[in-house]
Amino acid sequence: SDPDRPEPGEYDVVVVSNRLPVDRVEEPDGSVSWRSSPGGLVAALEPFMRRTDGAWVGWSGAPGDAPEPFDEHDMHLVGVPLSEGEVAEYYEGFSNATLWPLYHDVIAPPVFHRRWWDVYVQVNRRFAEAAARQASQGATVWVHDYQLQLVPGMLREIRPDLRIGFFDHIPFPGYEIFAQLPWRRQVVEGLLGADLLGFQRGADAANFLRACRRAAGLRTSGSTVRAGDRTVTARAFPISIDTPGFGDLARRDDVQARAKEIREALGDPRHLLLGVDRLDYTKGILHRLKAFGELLDDGRLDVHDTVLVQVASPSRERVEQYQALRDEVEATVGRINGDHGELGHQPVHYLHHSYPKEEMAALYLAADVMLVTSLRDGMNLVAKEFVACRHDETGALVLSEFTGAADELGGAFLINPHDIQGVKDTIVRAVESGEREQRRRMRTMRKRVREHDVSRWASDFLGALDAAGGARDDAGAP
Ligand code: F6P
Repeated sequence: SDPDRPEPGEYDVVVVSNRLPVDRVEEPDGSVSWRSSPGGLVAALEPFMRRTDGAWVGWSGAPGDAPEPFDEHDMHLVGVPLSEGEVAEYYEGFSNATLWPLYHDVIAPPVFHRRWWDVYVQVNRRFAEAAARQASQGATVWVHDYQLQLVPGMLREIRPDLRIGFFDHIPFPGYEIFAQLPWRRQVVEGLLGADLLGFQRGADAANFLRACRRAAGLRTSGSTVRAGDRTVTARAFPISIDTPGFGDLARRDDVQARAKEIREALGDPRHLLLGVDRLDYTKGILHRLKAFGELLDDGRLDVHDTVLVQVASPSRERVEQYQALRDEVEATVGRINGDHGELGHQPVHYLHHSYPKEEMAALYLAADVMLVTSLRDGMNLVAKEFVACRHDETGALVLSEFTGAADELGGAFLINPHDIQGVKDTIVRAVESGEREQRRRMRTMRKRVREHDVSRWASDFLGALDAAGGARDDAGAP
C-alpha cells in the first residue's frame, strides 16, 4: 500500500481537538487518574460525543507518550503525544502566547517566534495523521479550534475522500489585527482544507472571509470562498450547552440543598454575586473586581449584605501572562478584603479551583447576579449555563457586549467592561432589579438556550457539512 495514503480506519465520525475531554493526572503516589478537562470546548462537545459512535483524537494534557486508545464515559479516545518541548512551543507558545492574544484583539501583546511556528506545523501534522488513521473511507472529520488550524489542509492532502469540517471556538479577529501574523496566508490556506468552516458569530465569519481576500487573494461571494476547484462555506454556528442536562441537575434535590448550604456558609447575604471563569486575561476579572471594590468604597453596595464569589479555575499556568494575571487578581482580592472585611466576614470569596458540574449548578442556583465581564470571548458558555439552571426564572445576568453570548441573550444587563462607571451602574441595577423584571428577562434568555442547545448546534453544523461536502462524494474513491 502507498505509505502516503494510510489505510482507512473504522470510525465514520472523528472529532479532533487539542485536548481530550479528560486530562491525565499523576497522583503523588504515582497512580494515574483522569479528570474532566477545563474550558468551553469540552463542555460543549462531550454531550454530543457521548451519543455518537465516533472517535475523539486529542492530547491527554500531560507531556510524554500518549496513552493507548481507551474508552471513557462512552467515548472512544485516541491520544496524540506531545513532548515537553512541544507543550512549551506548540501549546504554551504558538497557541497560547501567539494566537490566543492575537485572536482576542491583542488584549495582551502576542509573541511571534519562528521556532514556535515550525513546531505548530509539526504538531498539526501529527494530529492530521492521527485523525487519518481513525477515519473510515468517506468519513466525516470535525476539527476544532485555533490550535489546529492547519489540520484541515493537511488532512485533505492525505485523505481526499474525507468530509472535513472545522469549528473555531474563539473569535476570528479583524483583518488589521490578523494581518500581524507572519504566517497569515498559511493559516488561511490550512483552514480552507475544510468543506465547511464554523464560527461563533457572523462577524467572525466575515472577518475570516476578508482575510481570504486580503491574505490569500481569493474571491468570496456571500458566505463562500473559492479555493482552487473547491468552494468552501464560512458561517456562524453559535455554540451552546447541554440545556436539558443542566436543567435536570438544577432540579435535583441534593443540588438545591447544596445551593442553600452555600448561601448559609456565606452568612445568608442579601445579594450574592458570582463570577466563574478560567483564570484568563480575556475574562475581564480585574475590571469586575475594580467595579465591585469601588461600589463598596462608594457605599452603593453594603459590605454587610453583599458577597462576591469568584471561581477562577487554573489555566495555562506556565504561560507568563497567566502568572502575572494570577498575581494581580490575588493582590486585588486581598486589597478589597483587607479594606472592607471584618472578622468572620469577607466580601470576596476567591476560589482557585475547578469544580464538578453539580457544584457549578449549585453555585448558579445560589447566586442572585451572575457577572460575565469578558473583554473578548468567542461565546462564553458560563452565561448560558447560569440561564439554563434558573428554572424559577429569577436571577440577573450582567453580560459583556464583547461575548458571542451577547448576540443571543438579549435579556441580559449588557455592559462594556472597559466602562467601569457603566459596569458599576449596571451591577447596581441588576442587584436592585425586581422579580418582575428578572422574570421577563430570564424568560427570553431561557427560551433561547432551550431552543438552541448543543445538540442542535452539532446537528446544524453536521447537516450543513453534509450538504457542503455533497458535491464531492466521488473524490478520492479507489
Ligand atoms: O474554548 C476555547 C479553549 O481554548 C479550548 O480550545 C480549550 O480546550 C479551552 O479553551 C481551555 O483551554 P486549555 O485547553 O488551554 O486549557
